[in-house]
Amino acid sequence: MPNVDICLTPKTIDLFDLTGKVVVVVDIFRATSTMTAALSNGVAKVIPVSDLDHCNSFQGNEYIKAAERGGKKVEGFHYGNSPFDYEGEDVKGKTLVMTTTNGTKALNLSKDADQVLIGSFLNASSTLNYLKKVGKDVLIFCAGWKGRFSLEDTLYAGYLAELLLGAGFEHNSDSVFVSIGMSNSAKIQGWEDYSANAAHYRRLNSFRNHEDIKFCMKMDQYDLVAGLVDDSIRIL
Ligand code: MLT
Repeated sequence: MPNVDICLTPKTIDLFDLTGKVVVVVDIFRATSTMTAALSNGVAKVIPVSDLDHCNSFQGNEYIKAAERGGKKVEGFHYGNSPFDYEGEDVKGKTLVMTTTNGTKALNLSKDADQVLIGSFLNASSTLNYLKKVGKDVLIFCAGWKGRFSLEDTLYAGYLAELLLGAGFEHNSDSVFVSIGMSNSAKIQGWEDYSANAAHYRRLNSFRNHEDIKFCMKMDQYDLVAGLVDDSIRIL
């Protein structure tokens, strides 16, 4: 049976062999949640880039450009990393070039995988069903915060891992065991209430981004699966 594992921080991704695996990159607050919302609202594809200059180098009406650092939109960029930035008619059919503090970097660290998906609570069931159908080993890759552990990403990882185990996947990983334990504690306490312990929850709240946080914690708002095709994230 296929195996599921969890990479808890980007600093340890080199310890994992990505060959033949489906990697699910997760950045709940907010990159992969925002990308999922943007694609659902009509953005054609998302090109994740790691630095500001590369993001700025894309020229042409087909592109819209987004940059976030430290949880805030970078000055000079029209779009940031809020899911609410992508609700208008202006984004439909566009190619979104995006650079964020953690999420886009994690995506670019995953390119040796057989396939790369973006994970979020917003489309969790669709991603689960896709992974069950594909039946390959899965590595859930938590984008974290500047290389460090992220509580909210780990909650998603534990939630998805437990569902995969219930579908017959196997594991031999302390990361999976611990993440499932956290996820079950959050189910009992309440997802958002539990997530309020997260450093990035508090950081975003201090920036008055509470609506973003509430939205990113919503379950199964979209029935879509999104993943890397060539150099961009698209609906599969
Ligand atoms: C990220 O991708 O680094 C995070 O989503 C940061 C944020 O946008 O709050």
